Amino acid sequence: MNSSLHRLSLEFVRVTELAAIEAAKWIGRGDGKAADKAAVDAMRTALNQIAFSGEIVIGEGAKDESHELYVGEKVGNGNAPEVDIAVDPLECTDSVAYGRTNAITVIATGPKGTLYKAADSYMQKLAVPPSAKNIVDLDAPVKDTIQKVAKALGKDISEITVAILDRERHEKLKNEVRSAGARLQLFTDGDVAMALATCLPESPVDILMGTGGSSEAVLAASAMRTFGGELLVRWKPKDEKHIARLNAAGITKFDDILKAEDLAKGDDLTFTATGVLTGPLAKGVVFGKNHITTHTIVISSKSNTTRFIKTKHKTS
Ligand code: FBP
Repeated sequence: MNSSLHRLSLEFVRVTELAAIEAAKWIGRGDGKAADKAAVDAMRTALNQIAFSGEIVIGEGAKDESHELYVGEKVGNGNAPEVDIAVDPLECTDSVAYGRTNAITVIATGPKGTLYKAADSYMQKLAVPPSAKNIVDLDAPVKDTIQKVAKALGKDISEITVAILDRERHEKLKNEVRSAGARLQLFTDGDVAMALATCLPESPVDILMGTGGSSEAVLAASAMRTFGGELLVRWKPKDEKHIARLNAAGITKFDDILKAEDLAKGDDLTFTATGVLTGPLAKGVVFGKNHITTHTIVISSKSNTTRFIKTKHKTS
């Protein structure tokens, strides 16, 4: 497959690997900012060595908030192709700071104009596997959604596992899932991986529900398009500051429901993520005696492939 973006997804492996190794050096040290900076620095340096012309559409915030990988920053050596690029140099900063699970470094791309420029806020999310696509509705009662997904998967409701970010705002949702008779998997951080986990056959997670970051929604959507599952979202600004930020980005209506294909358009999308701490998508970084081992997932919609790449980086 000769798609230039497909080629890029494989080149990005080196970028997410290097960012993951640098972030992993900070596991458990209680300093999320340092972990994030280490990942950002590594990712930015490695990205600029690649032959492409990328524009960050999802990144480390606005130009006045961040000096590196800010929204609008150009990355790559300036050659064709022109690419929208969404990055999270460290998804789950706190998990790294406090030595938990499920942290990744991630890059998603599409041709210029294909990735949704989501201002930084919250979105309500519902992610389901391919067999439950087109039968779920973000506004349906939780019990109905679980029943429908169980039927589509040929499972009993008691065999369905719903992943929910462990936050106070989700207390009502957690109780609704419990009273529907399904199982609950609470997680501290990382709804990009948990949304995609609904589509991985070896994962116990069947449904992701709850409210999380809008940037994470775009990242998950770009991989979900290849997996063939569904991600439904709707803006859920947290406070007046979020509303002002969305209004400044031209978003004044928060009722519309967006699908994965609205967040990541077309058929030439890529998603590359390396595990920092083990989660559903990839194992974390392992420091050995003479080498460091990384685990990366590379998804390309053009070639319809999902690759799992284990790399040994010799250190001495
Ligand atoms: P960060 O690494 O940017 O903190 O994101 C981790 C995360 O858990 C995301 O996966 C999720 O979408 C978001 O935080 C939820 O936000 P909050 O922690 O404010 O509830």
